[in-house]
Amino acid sequence: MKLKPWVKIFLFFILASIILFFGTKYFKKENAQIDKSLLDKYNISEKYASKTLEYVLKNNFYDEKYLEEYSKIEFNDNANFKEILTTFLPKGYKGEEINYLFKLSTNNLEKLKDKDYQDIHNYYQIKNFDVNALDRYNEYYNQNEYSYEDVVTYVNIKLDLPVYTDTVEVTDPDSILVLVNKYNSLPKNYSPSDLEYAKGAYGNNVPMRKIAYEALEELQKTVKKEANFELLPTTAYRDYNFQNTLYSNYVKSDGVASADTYSARPGYSEHQTGLAIDLKNPATSSNIRLTEENYNWLKNNAYRFGFIIRFPKDKEFITGYQEENWHIRYVGKDVAKTIYENNLSLEEYIDLYVTEY
Ligand code: DAL
Ligand code: ZN
Repeated sequence: MKLKPWVKIFLFFILASIILFFGTKYFKKENAQIDKSLLDKYNISEKYASKTLEYVLKNNFYDEKYLEEYSKIEFNDNANFKEILTTFLPKGYKGEEINYLFKLSTNNLEKLKDKDYQDIHNYYQIKNFDVNALDRYNEYYNQNEYSYEDVVTYVNIKLDLPVYTDTVEVTDPDSILVLVNKYNSLPKNYSPSDLEYAKGAYGNNVPMRKIAYEALEELQKTVKKEANFELLPTTAYRDYNFQNTLYSNYVKSDGVASADTYSARPGYSEHQTGLAIDLKNPATSSNIRLTEENYNWLKNNAYRFGFIIRFPKDKEFITGYQEENWHIRYVGKDVAKTIYENNLSLEEYIDLYVTEY
């Protein structure tokens, strides 16, 4: 379409005006609106002008001490705007920290009112920080040599509590990401509805969930091709009663404390999800599941099929179990990759990427 020159010029001006209008609106600093006489009245330099300062001045709770902080606090229409400023600025909270407070629920905010400033400023920027656990964070921080980030994650995981205390029954037993450990149990009668049977290392049929079965098949084909050895399951899905028998026998022979380091109590075993598989190389002797070389392959490749090594050596203090290099857990390819690349345990992954605080 050919346009006459004057039409082009006309359109150009219309477009330029629109850009100019919205552009300046967008970039204009909110402080430009503040009433100059108000600043003069309090003898405040224009560089501090902001909507928050204006609000503070107009509502008569201006305090010169906080002049710097006011300019960092983003004005918003929170009904408690004044109360938050007058409660937390005197406690020593900085402007950025006050901004964070507006994101909290009223419930969590109430809790903070009784706390001193030093209780929060180390934590408030940590993504999985939970105000409810502040006292526990502080205690755990004092007792250990961890960073604040690690303290938050470890306390959220409940590492500050003895195992098998404060336990919760999971509400999503069928979820691929269900977390079953010494603080999270499965309903006693839970069993997956999509079990498939894989050929086992002892000529047995090993039940596991369909999605894990299919991923295992893929893994088995690849390991044969790439590393020329076989991996067969010894056990995968185990129901509550089976785990009960296993655990009771271990307790009889080794005692509770020792049994707890390598066997889950009934209801607390990931094997009951049908997503955990114990592997063995059938070519090794009966008491060796994997050679070092086998494990190296598994450790660096399991994620490609959606599996993670669930109880690695360097995460013993998190999982609460001795290293089990043969126990893999299906979590799906994306999650397995993130866990592998960031060297996380499932507990850490869930806390950092799934749980909402
Ligand atoms: N051996 C693992 C920890 C279980 O019993 O589930
Ligand atoms: Zn296992």
